[in-house]
Amino acid sequence: MGYTKTIAEELRSDKEFLRAIALNIEQLGNERRIKKFNEVVGFCEQVIQIVQNYPANKEVVFLECSCGKSYLSFAINYILSKRFQINTFFYGVDFNQTLIEKCDQIRDTLGYENMKFVGSRIIDAQPEKPVDVVLALHACDIATDEAIAKGIKLKAKHIVVVPCCEGQVRGRLKRGHPLVDITDFGLLRYRFADILTEALRAQFLTGAGYHVKLTEVASPKFTPKNLMIIARKKKGDAKCNMNTYKKLNEIFHANFILENYFTEFELN
Ligand SMILES: C[S@@+](CC[C@H](N)C(=O)[O-])C[C@H]1O[C@@H](n2cnc3c(N)ncnc32)[C@H](O)[C@@H]1O
Repeated sequence: MGYTKTIAEELRSDKEFLRAIALNIEQLGNERRIKKFNEVVGFCEQVIQIVQNYPANKEVVFLECSCGKSYLSFAINYILSKRFQINTFFYGVDFNQTLIEKCDQIRDTLGYENMKFVGSRIIDAQPEKPVDVVLALHACDIATDEAIAKGIKLKAKHIVVVPCCEGQVRGRLKRGHPLVDITDFGLLRYRFADILTEALRAQFLTGAGYHVKLTEVASPKFTPKNLMIIARKKKGDAKCNMNTYKKLNEIFHANFILENYFTEFELN
């Protein structure tokens, strides 16, 4: 493709764009913004890998769940429109109406007509177009599970999430499972809960017919919450097989929230 600039360089060199999306990192001492910038850059890199395999004549439709101020969608839109000759459309959904209005303003300032922001719970969002790629960056707690569930229900070709806090499973790990000798220690229980939660998500997606890869969105020196789940829908109508997920869920009595978005019929 002959692109010499990295995504970070490309974004950094357009200060006006970064200012418009409130991700300008020039001011000293703004650690949170620098952290977000690095997460967004890492996420964009993965999305480019995915999108370059889509046919050139296809409109690629994204749904960013828990979009907040939608730094991610704005940055992906910016990079894709510069590097690829493809049509894209972006939905952003967040239940915080004030943030949605902010996103509308930024979209209008940038003149990005291919974006629509919706104030809603993720699971209730009803995009008009068929969604290809579901994204979620640090959707708090179970919002990541809503994003995964929504992606599966929409039959999205790709579901890419970087989860945030993982509170739901932690409290259930105090007793009654084979690894209590590990989880007896608060700090290890905390860390193990994170690992188990991501394993449950990954196995659920696998069971729902996706190839799943786990990677890091950015170096841990930039962000501790850097685990990324990349799921690609298998070709054809792969049959749902939740046996591995169910076994893992049972061993730890995790009672994992993700399955609550589906009927028993959908999981068999
Ligand atoms: C930590 S912020 C992350 C925002 C953005 N993705 C980012 O990286 O800057 C989490 C966002 O999720 C939204 N949120 C949490 N649960 C949600 C749900 N179930 N449905 C829709 N939005 C939700 C909140 O309003 C908040 O804007």
